Amino acid sequence: MKILIHDTAEAAEKDTARRLAQAVNKKPDSVLGLATGGTMTRVYEELVALYNKKRVSFSEATTFNLDEYIGLPAEHPCSYHTYMREALFKHIDIPEAATHLPDGMASDPDQAAADYEAAIHAAGGIDLQLLGIGHNGHIGFNEPSSSLQSRTRVKTLTEDTRRANQRYFASFDETPIYAITMGIATIMDARECLLLATGAGKADAVAAMIEGPMSANCPASALQMHQTATILLDSEAASRLANRAYYEYVHPKGDDSVQL
Ligand code: PGA
Repeated sequence: MKILIHDTAEAAEKDTARRLAQAVNKKPDSVLGLATGGTMTRVYEELVALYNKKRVSFSEATTFNLDEYIGLPAEHPCSYHTYMREALFKHIDIPEAATHLPDGMASDPDQAAADYEAAIHAAGGIDLQLLGIGHNGHIGFNEPSSSLQSRTRVKTLTEDTRRANQRYFASFDETPIYAITMGIATIMDARECLLLATGAGKADAVAAMIEGPMSANCPASALQMHQTATILLDSEAASRLANRAYYEYVHPKGDDSVQL
């Protein structure tokens, strides 16, 4: 794991966006794995800013999002289809047909999940996977106890995750219970992973991911087995790392000089 600790959330977010843009510049037809959540909104704002400055184009890229709620139509304001359209897709030059999210309204969600996994494979696999991390260590909606060998499938969300997402919905009862998510093995197949975590609320999950045992109890810890995983943190998210001084010695101030 490459662990880059920035002073501020803003610096970590900007670095994440620049790394993604750099990957697309190097390989314009990149297959990108994308993530949603509060952490990613400013990453997408920065990507849109880079696009507007003509520093990156997505016209040849393909995207696959990690997950989508079951039972929310794509047009629902809280669907991840809507999140992605509003945060990124409508502002950049990516063709709509090149953007993919799981079909949360499929009459057969298990089949929709299998089809999604097959579509990723047919696209040549994911070049760069963007990830957040939940307070409980989830990546995508792979909740604790998820098989580290899992593929795209239906998952039941934990109450913790539903409570974290409740802020987007009118009430807890309206927060979806099920989602289709890429599996951990699906994520591990990505040629490169970029995980961004900011804020003190993520510090325990980050420590478990980087320094804990590899365990289904912290699904993100599977990234310890990934050969090219970069973890971008702000100072608060890094605050529970026992070996922080070493990580900062290897990459002072998160500096790894990304050129655009
Ligand atoms: P957040 O979600 O960015 O809203 O904290 C992260 C996640 O659950 O993966």
